[in-house]
Amino acid sequence: MSDDGRLSDGSLSDGRLSKVGRTAFAVALARAIESERDDAWFVDPLARQVAPFVSVESMDKLSPGLVAWMAVRTRFLDELMLGAAGRGIRQFVTVGAGLDARAFRLALPADSTVFEVDRADVFTQKRALVLSAELAPVGSRREIVADVLDPAWTAALETSGWQRGEPTLWLLEGFLIYFDERARTRLLTTLAESSAAGSELGSTVDARAGAKRHPLWHSFEGVDLGRWFAECGWEATLTTMRQASAGYGRPVPPGRGETPTLVAARLAPVVDHR
Ligand SMILES: C[S@@+](CC[C@H](N)C(=O)[O-])C[C@H]1O[C@@H](n2cnc3c(N)ncnc32)[C@H](O)[C@@H]1O
Repeated sequence: MSDDGRLSDGSLSDGRLSKVGRTAFAVALARAIESERDDAWFVDPLARQVAPFVSVESMDKLSPGLVAWMAVRTRFLDELMLGAAGRGIRQFVTVGAGLDARAFRLALPADSTVFEVDRADVFTQKRALVLSAELAPVGSRREIVADVLDPAWTAALETSGWQRGEPTLWLLEGFLIYFDERARTRLLTTLAESSAAGSELGSTVDARAGAKRHPLWHSFEGVDLGRWFAECGWEATLTTMRQASAGYGRPVPPGRGETPTLVAARLAPVVDHR
């Protein structure tokens, strides 16, 4: 990378990332493909920077079905984030942010803050892309380098300015899939316990029956999703890819997108059992 961080010397490449970090590039590539459509649901200026740096291996894995799924989930969570801002939320925490560009591309209130949590290697590459695209956040944006398997990550979030006493929208997009049942239950419970009244959560889950999966993925197949979210402290509304996509005017092919995979949740009220 050159002194000003621009993409001149080939140091930017998904090959420099861990296997999980590399997935962030694949998602961005899918968003770049959506951004080029005449009827694009969003235009992602950061994703558009990514295509030359995605390895052939990652490109080969990106099927049309995956591109369609990533477009739907991006729009679904865009709308959830803007809706939360309309409901007065000003703190947005993107857990496993990858190359998520919502801080730059959504019309968020100027007094909002987007806290992005991910690993150091991902942020190093993201910074170069942000500089190259000359992007500036709409409100405030903070990077929190943390591994959420380390319980200290919420303290790091607080140090960066996140206010525990204020409502938060937590975004977990393409994220829970990397955690086994125990780790994801601990994570969602931690989020609920850390959340002020009025907090919300948006997530994707993979609960498809019999689907072929990447070795890094952990499925929710067979899990009663509504019940699991409730046990973790969240009242969840579940939507299928088919429902969401049809609602946006782009039906999916027959047989695809039938399982609930998109989650919009609110913090469950605390029940006083005394
Ligand atoms: C598939 S990408 C999704 C990125 C982003 N949410 C999006 O949809 O564009 C998953 C991201 O989660 C991050 N990640 C995975 N495990 C993590 C962990 N334990 N702590 C922090 N980040 C993690 C990876 O580095 C990667 O950037």
